[in-house]
Amino acid sequence: MTVFARVSAVGPQETRRPVETGRAGPTLRGVPASLGTSAGAAITICGLEKRFGDKVVLDKLDLTVPAGQFLAVVGRSGCGKSTLLRLLVGLDTPTAGTIDVSSSSVATQSRIVFQEPRLLPWETVEQNVSVGLGEGRLTPERREKVALALAEVGLKDRATEWPSVLSGGQKQRVALARALVSHPQLLALDEPLGALDALTRITMQGLIERVWFAQGMTTVLVTHDVSEAVALADRVIVLDAGRVTLDIDVKAPRPRERGSADLAALEGRLLDAIFGVADVVY
Ligand SMILES: Nc1ncnc2c1ncn2[C@@H]1O[C@H](COP(=O)(O)OP(=O)(O)OP(=O)(O)O)[C@@H](O)[C@H]1O
Ligand SMILES: [Mg+2]
Repeated sequence: MTVFARVSAVGPQETRRPVETGRAGPTLRGVPASLGTSAGAAITICGLEKRFGDKVVLDKLDLTVPAGQFLAVVGRSGCGKSTLLRLLVGLDTPTAGTIDVSSSSVATQSRIVFQEPRLLPWETVEQNVSVGLGEGRLTPERREKVALALAEVGLKDRATEWPSVLSGGQKQRVALARALVSHPQLLALDEPLGALDALTRITMQGLIERVWFAQGMTTVLVTHDVSEAVALADRVIVLDAGRVTLDIDVKAPRPRERGSADLAALEGRLLDAIFGVADVVY
């Protein structure tokens, strides 16, 4: 599907160009696409700088992400990926520059999922998910929203169980449901599958793609895995020395064919960009 999105929110004139969201066709493995891009937030980052003491982590970074895009961020350890995500969802503040996250909704909501599920062990699965709705008792209305979010991640029968009886992948699905329950316009994922085994990762990647496709929220995924990046994202950026050093569109149609020559070529370009620049020994 081609939509028109704002390329830059600053300057005297707005430039518009068609943006491929990767939503080829009306369904993805039987899941209907969301209606347009109203469910997603547009991101405009201008001259973003983040320092910790003397250390410059993000260095006058500019980035524009159209509403509804699935963006993957890759780069060497310590290059500032998590810092960028934390700034995007408002968990930290920039040293300089601006970040604008806005959507057609009155209140734009952003949610983040980390590598660890960070569940409350003394609360049931449904109570953990309801945390995503903010403070409040588990009223019938909240319970219904929670049930829908749990169904979305394939855990509707586990609502009354304790986190301790769930597998690692199931716990991470609860964390995803907690992020989805408020229908955020921006979903930030910081290596959400990093601690899972290879087979569970593939299942979870399919789940993330389906949820994004169905809900249409703008999604920013930080990952160390370039095959995961090209399998899921519309676009992949490489961060290095606090800036974007490569920005590529992944035009392969969905559902994507893992291991295809096109995706392998993109993986090669990304690995060259990540490792080719460094004078570091790995
Ligand atoms: N709160 C903080 N105080 C001081 N330094 C910090 C803080 N948070 C991050 N840093 C530094 O900023 C740099 C970037 O950290 P960040 O966590 O963003 O990297 P990353 O790209 O996510 O790395 P990884 O791939 O290992 O998760 C690192 O050098 C880190 O030590
Ligand atoms: Mg990180």
